[in-house]
Amino acid sequence: MRNFFLSLEFTTVLFVILVLNASKHIVALCGAGLSAESGVPTFRGEGGFWRTFQATELATPKAFEKNPSRVWEFYHYRRELVLTKKPNRAHKALVDFEKKVLSANPKTQTFAVITQNVDGLSSNIKNLIEMHGSLFKTRCTKCGDRTENYDSPIALALKGTENSQFDINLPIEKLPSCSKCKGLLRPDVVWFGECLDNDILMKIDVELERCDLLLVIGTSGLVYPAAAYASIVSARGGKIAVFNIEKTYDADFEFIGSCGEILGNALMVNDGEDKHEVV
Ligand code: APR
Repeated sequence: MRNFFLSLEFTTVLFVILVLNASKHIVALCGAGLSAESGVPTFRGEGGFWRTFQATELATPKAFEKNPSRVWEFYHYRRELVLTKKPNRAHKALVDFEKKVLSANPKTQTFAVITQNVDGLSSNIKNLIEMHGSLFKTRCTKCGDRTENYDSPIALALKGTENSQFDINLPIEKLPSCSKCKGLLRPDVVWFGECLDNDILMKIDVELERCDLLLVIGTSGLVYPAAAYASIVSARGGKIAVFNIEKTYDADFEFIGSCGEILGNALMVNDGEDKHEVV
């Protein structure tokens, strides 16, 4: 249902009646736009720069090999920033929708969230797949140990580097190190050029296999494999609803605007004052 000539309210009514209520397994695929209203910068567009670097240039194994201090300074900056942020209305809409689905009796729907975000702001979702890892997990480059880590700062020498405009060039010994083998830690996130974990890919396959409604929220759709999920679901006959401030995917339903404003109404979980009546 293309909505070029339809108002947001009318699109919402059609969406709720025609697909939301009728769908059996709903999956939300989220990207950086989900957290934009919380003040977490996106990767592309205006928010995509850190110091003089494009954020995407630093999220690579090569960048880490060449300059682990710079990459850790970048990730330390992102960790410190995210620690000051809170989930926004769109995160809350997903949590509330999951609660609604889980408490429905009889059970007519199931729900899963697949997020590309590494900020942990969707951690209140029960059925959550963080496909690109987490800013708050580390992996040892020597022994492979994976650990959750919310230390602030993650290494003493990184303290304050988040405010610098220049590289600090810390020696390896001052960067985060493994408590078990003293090896150099890296953020446990998936960088460009790296494969996703097989376990994660299999979990995602299970969700997409059953999915008859995919909500594509705040993602530019430029990075694979996530970029392919809408066409996979669509090819199997599932419906696609996109929530984005700009046109991205061709979809059955396109909600153009901030997902913080729109998602709660579209999922019928807004009890706040910005609710549009949709039934
Ligand atoms: N509401 C909805 N959409 C928004 C909002 C908002 N308030 N603000 C921004 N957006 C949209 C932008 O229009 C853009 O389409 O969010 C999208 C953000 O795109 P990217 O910055 O490319 O982020 P994402 O799609 O999550 O990137 C995918 O690429 O850099 C890697 O691993 C990283 O997980 C990331 C992946």
